[in-house]
Amino acid sequence: MFTSSTKIIPEVGAVPRHVAIIMDGNGRWAGRRMLPRVAGHKRGVEAVREVIKGCADQGVEFLTLFAFSSENWRRPADEVSFLMQLFMLALEQEVAKLHQNNIRFKVIGDLSRFEPRLVGLIREGERLTANNGRCTLTVAANYGGRWDIANAVRAMLAEHPEYAGGFDPDALAPYLAMAYAPEPDLFIRTGGEHRISNFLLWQLAYTELYFTDLLWPDFDREALAAAIRSYQQRERRFGRTSEQLRAATR
Ligand code: IPE
Ligand code: IPE
Ligand code: MG
Repeated sequence: MFTSSTKIIPEVGAVPRHVAIIMDGNGRWAGRRMLPRVAGHKRGVEAVREVIKGCADQGVEFLTLFAFSSENWRRPADEVSFLMQLFMLALEQEVAKLHQNNIRFKVIGDLSRFEPRLVGLIREGERLTANNGRCTLTVAANYGGRWDIANAVRAMLAEHPEYAGGFDPDALAPYLAMAYAPEPDLFIRTGGEHRISNFLLWQLAYTELYFTDLLWPDFDREALAAAIRSYQQRERRFGRTSEQLRAATR
């Protein structure tokens, strides 16, 4: 368990330890090329590969990718089923490579609606890579921030019925799906929309936000480096004043 990032202040100029990304814009990428939306999802997998390498090379310890939200079931059935097939294919093809590169793989989200074969591939990938230490790649699949918080409250109260009358926010954190990681330092959303779309609601409280109009399939290592450079120029204050921070680092 990590101490909340709102308690430790990272130095200005440091590489973000945890980068969380909403990979948006696949459908529009395809539409601009007169291709079906699913062609954009396919190209999106290539961008995922590049960004994993980029993060591992830059020393990012945790990379979290939003692949499918709890609201994405509302999409046309054939697009949903294509996304599931693509996820399975990517797992079959990529997990061994992640393992070779010493990357730990994890999935967060409600897996109960997924096909047993997909769940099996996820669990097998998690098991194989569990002890890898270079970087942790978390894929958020059928994930929703509100689901995560509700689930955490339920699990916490099952263990601590005495908290029903009230509890400290710090008491809840260990029950969240990503309790194994520090809170994201940098949030990136591609595709031009400026919203969180029910991603890591609890954990993004003090995360630096970065939005780009680039569509996800066009997001490459250079685009990632640009986002990290933007992050490195920011002063994170967590409620304090700039003067206090400067005095503390002198
Ligand atoms: C993001 O791209 C991928 C998923 C949500 C699975 P979109 O499919 O949302 O692409 P746009 O936003 O329609 O362009
Ligand atoms: C957010 O993208 C979810 C993922 C990238 C998986 P959406 O494209 O589904 O978000 P909204 O619906 O436009 O907010
Ligand atoms: Mg979208």
